Amino acid sequence: MERFSKEITLEKRNKHIGDACTLFFKHDPLKITKASKQYMYDEKDNAYLDCINNVCHVGHCHPYVVEAGYEQMKTLNTNSRFLHDNLVMLAERLTSTLPEGLNTVYFTNSGSEATDLAIRLANHHTHGSEQITLDHAYHGHVISALDISPYKLGTCTDGIHTHSENIHIVPCPDIYRGKYRDCDYPEDNMAHLYANEVKAVIDKLKKEKKQVSMFIAESMQSCAGQVIFPEGYLQKVYKYVHDAGGICIADEVQVGFGRAGSHFWTFQTQDVIPDIVTIGKPMGNGHPVAAVITTKDISMSFKNSGMEYFNTYGGNPVSCAIALAVMDVIEEEKLQENALTTGKYWVAQLNEIKKQFPIIGDVRGLGLFIGIDLVKDRETREPASAEAKHVIARMKEEFIILSTDGPHCNIIKMKPPMCFTKENVDLVCQKLVMVLKEIQDKNINSNANSVISGKKERHSDSDDSGVSVNGHHGFVNGQEYVAVHTGESDSVTVVK
Ligand SMILES: Cc1ncc(COP(=O)(O)O)c(C=O)c1O
Repeated sequence: MERFSKEITLEKRNKHIGDACTLFFKHDPLKITKASKQYMYDEKDNAYLDCINNVCHVGHCHPYVVEAGYEQMKTLNTNSRFLHDNLVMLAERLTSTLPEGLNTVYFTNSGSEATDLAIRLANHHTHGSEQITLDHAYHGHVISALDISPYKLGTCTDGIHTHSENIHIVPCPDIYRGKYRDCDYPEDNMAHLYANEVKAVIDKLKKEKKQVSMFIAESMQSCAGQVIFPEGYLQKVYKYVHDAGGICIADEVQVGFGRAGSHFWTFQTQDVIPDIVTIGKPMGNGHPVAAVITTKDISMSFKNSGMEYFNTYGGNPVSCAIALAVMDVIEEEKLQENALTTGKYWVAQLNEIKKQFPIIGDVRGLGLFIGIDLVKDRETREPASAEAKHVIARMKEEFIILSTDGPHCNIIKMKPPMCFTKENVDLVCQKLVMVLKEIQDKNINSNANSVISGKKERHSDSDDSGVSVNGHHGFVNGQEYVAVHTGESDSVTVVK
């Protein structure tokens, strides 16, 4: 339903909404007025195929989930200091999907709260304060989570929130464009090379007589550009961390709940058992509900600190009803299985397309979590950032919503609702071929106007930092330009 024209909505938003909040496609933002399954509709009723919404996990506005929330909202909503069946049912249901020891649940309202609580649990249990995180990671927007989120913290330039000395950043195990690339180390075990970076930090801390509290990582890294870890990486790292008396936290906020296809939790694809799992986004299908799941021992250390855990909304009956309904739908509609088959099909199709287009350097994915790394040159793997941005803008004109991510914003990111079909994949691939052909022929459509920006425009659900980048390349009417950012706005002045 529309109350105002798109222009008025934008005007009111610019006037009243916090200036640090950004929009997708800020040169021509989408006004979405309704959604269903894997489709979102704008104010003119145009249907967009949503390839990026891993929050509306079982499909936008799934009627079964909506009904469960509505029914519970009519009946009762209160805090978790009263007994309620939904709370215990959800805790039981979640823990039944996890390895045996992970049997204790704390509910929160967001992934950021879950990260913050996980850090507190780790600190109380280990009496340590040293935290190890991956480069390019994002774990949330509260201060404690930002501390371990180089992806975001690195963009803060006023010197107010800076890197803390107890946070240790290790290279993201990206074998395509990370510190150790498969092409540079053909004889080496990539998992070992990257895990040794964690060991080096731990050895240094031991020498300095500092206690490791925790190592945190997404089980495949979304914000770094859909990075799938080399086999055995987490096993090695978890061993080093455990041997040093630390705790391993698996952030499954983006990648949990069956997205990987082969397993319900993505850490299972690495054959490890974390000490703490955090979960958020997909759990409520858009409703704010999240959780920290841990062992009894770790939970008891937290309790024995003497401090009560109370969260006004965490674990309320409505949120729990919704999360239970989401889990029902995943099972009944076999969405994890769909993620496996549709994801495999998608990767196979993209690998076929890769044969035709040298701009595609790498295609990677597990289940419905897929990335396409665009390069200017397959040998050097120089990122094709402007081209990636162009692809996103053109695909939007074709009513397909994608995003870019990674340190160079050159990775096309796909993580759609889990009801995505093979027919949807075919459509995305057909349009992608068309747009890549345009780029190849330098027959670029200038209406894809988000390209003519001097700012990086990341589109992941956690970011949109809107960092201004001078020297950024793009295309206008088939001509390459170099952007010069001249002030507060997105103005671009130089065309090559
Ligand atoms: C991996 C990861 N962890 C944690 C968070 C924080 O979750 P929230 O935005 O619900 O606070 C995000 C959000 O994008 C995320 O991607």
